[in-house]
Amino acid sequence: MSNRFYVTTPIYYVNDAPHLGTAYTTVAADAFARQRSLRGMETRFLTGTDEHGLKIDRSARELGLEPQAFVDQISSKFRDAWPKLLCEPSDFIRTTEPRHKKVAQDLWERCRANGDIFEGEHEGWYCVSCEQFYPEKDLTEEKLCPIHKRAVEWTKETGYFFRLSRYQDKLLEHYEKHPEFVQPEGRRNEVISFVKEGLKDLSISRTTFQWGIPVPNDPKHVMYVWFDALTNYLSAVSGGPEKRFWPPTLQLVGKDIVRFHAIYWPAFLLSAGFGADELPKTVFAHGFLTINGQKMGKSLRNTVEPVRLAEYFGAGEVRYFLLREVALGQDGDFSHKKLISRIRADLAATLGNLLNRTLPFAVKHFDGAVPKPSAELDTDRERALRAKTRSLVDDAAAAWDALEPHRALECAIALAMECNGYFDARAPWSLAKDPARKDELATVIYHVLEVLRVCSVLLWAALPDKCDALRAQLGLDPLHPVIGVDKWPLEWGGLVAGSKLAPGAPLFRNITKDDEAKILQDFGVTDGETKVTDTKAADKPAKADATTPATPSKPAEAPATGGSTTIAFDDFAKVELKLGEVKSAERVPKSDKLLKLQVDLGEPSGPRQIIAGIGLSYQPEQLVGKKLVIVANLAPRKLMGHESHGMVLACGPTDGLSITTIEKDQPAGTPVK
Ligand code: MSP
Repeated sequence: MSNRFYVTTPIYYVNDAPHLGTAYTTVAADAFARQRSLRGMETRFLTGTDEHGLKIDRSARELGLEPQAFVDQISSKFRDAWPKLLCEPSDFIRTTEPRHKKVAQDLWERCRANGDIFEGEHEGWYCVSCEQFYPEKDLTEEKLCPIHKRAVEWTKETGYFFRLSRYQDKLLEHYEKHPEFVQPEGRRNEVISFVKEGLKDLSISRTTFQWGIPVPNDPKHVMYVWFDALTNYLSAVSGGPEKRFWPPTLQLVGKDIVRFHAIYWPAFLLSAGFGADELPKTVFAHGFLTINGQKMGKSLRNTVEPVRLAEYFGAGEVRYFLLREVALGQDGDFSHKKLISRIRADLAATLGNLLNRTLPFAVKHFDGAVPKPSAELDTDRERALRAKTRSLVDDAAAAWDALEPHRALECAIALAMECNGYFDARAPWSLAKDPARKDELATVIYHVLEVLRVCSVLLWAALPDKCDALRAQLGLDPLHPVIGVDKWPLEWGGLVAGSKLAPGAPLFRNITKDDEAKILQDFGVTDGETKVTDTKAADKPAKADATTPATPSKPAEAPATGGSTTIAFDDFAKVELKLGEVKSAERVPKSDKLLKLQVDLGEPSGPRQIIAGIGLSYQPEQLVGKKLVIVANLAPRKLMGHESHGMVLACGPTDGLSITTIEKDQPAGTPVK
């Protein structure tokens, strides 16, 4: 077996900020990389951002930004978020980087040279959010995209196609010979039956927009974003010594994108001349997370924003929850209450408690050092604890190998629980009362400390920070994986008698019922339901208007009061707010969010055109006749090609905005002070 382990996450679309769903995959990939590296493997962990395509192009233009400025801003949000969750990717790839473009174009050329790329025509229903065509039968009854429940667009393409049909049999043969290629089993069956239904050739170029990688020798066309994006896994290890990591060992993806990874991707690679043994080893599809049982919508996200959770509860604790709560291939649910009960039960009451109740004995009776166990004083209880440790250490390793981190972590906590039982049964507090039984006490305390050492290794992939803190209290160095050295705790007795312990503060916060109520309040959670609050500021890059320039946003200055910075009254007075009456409203073509409004501000020149990003919350006809508060002196700017001469004020999440109106009627043009 190769000693290399190359794990990847999907590259994330930059039309959105990191959220719990994307954090879930990234944390899982990081944990696998850490666990394999502890076992002595040479690991590589890749993540990054998917920055081309119509969806990104439109998202940028809806904000009045050039796509490059837009993707630069959001990509850095991803890059900055992961370390805060203790994720340490070896590389972060962006599809706008030259190193990637080169490899994508090269892959294209290789497929073309093999006769698999041809010119043709295609028309059908296209979902911009999924960036894929849907046959009519797959749309909902209302003819919406089955995933996003958004309108699809009838799209006609003249361009390049990939001869996917040619790979149907080869793929089926590969699935048959390599049952580990698509996992879990249910997804594998889905993929196989999809391929058996017959594969159609795939449209792989676009001419209707330019935000993509130019097709070699025909730059009027840009590559279909999935052809471009899938190549990232190859481009990141194409230059120099990283080549040795090819092919990926484990590609973690969400269940919604398994077809792209298990069908298109290997077909592109086979076409480009990769042999069956050079294909990725495993594509593993994980399930979807819901929040309090609800689909993860933008409106729910900011209260479960992963970095905020990590800052509040601890990065290790959040990682532990994500990996432990849900079996990797299954759907699962997040709630603050579930997170709190996991921290309380598994971490504070089981693992933390074991440490807290044991160290005082070492301090008081053994001079703060690891006591020396006596083989002669071994009872059945010590033998049973050692045997249990051994079997749980093996089971945990097998669970990581089987891609079941939740089971691996369960083994570690089961061991801490077992050891708490041992502690109770051996009652060191009674042994301590009798000086004649000091050696027996030493044996008991040694056994518990050694189990804690074992737990620090078993849990490190999930909770590296807390495991290193635990090790520090045991007087041990932090864990540093070394290639070729297996640090899995297969041997009993790693703790050396006589070495100094370093008791410190409790590892885990004790969350009382009162604390819980306060925490739920801080996160806006009522009766298990997450309250909806504005996500605009958290999710979106700075808009290119008169108040926020189209350059990457700077870190916020220190908040003054109420969490925001203050401005001088003179600055506020510069903003001209007026009442405007909406005379007509229509949608901006090809945009979900933008509405084109004609708004009367009582000006002799007649109504002004304002482009407002409220189309996910209002139908145009709901607005006609309404009087809204308008920012009247913003410099005009273009949004998706339409001039906007002002801004509508509204509050709330992007898909649940509430416009700002007035309580008593006033004429259009009245200043708002
Ligand atoms: N850019 C493509 C992937 C290209 S890979 C060559 C993409 N990006 S995405 O940002 O929309 O989604 C990235 C991943 O996040 C997907 O694996 C998706 O399944 C996952 N998740 C998005 N929402 C999720 C949940 N609610 N729960 C778990 N994972 C979720 O698709």
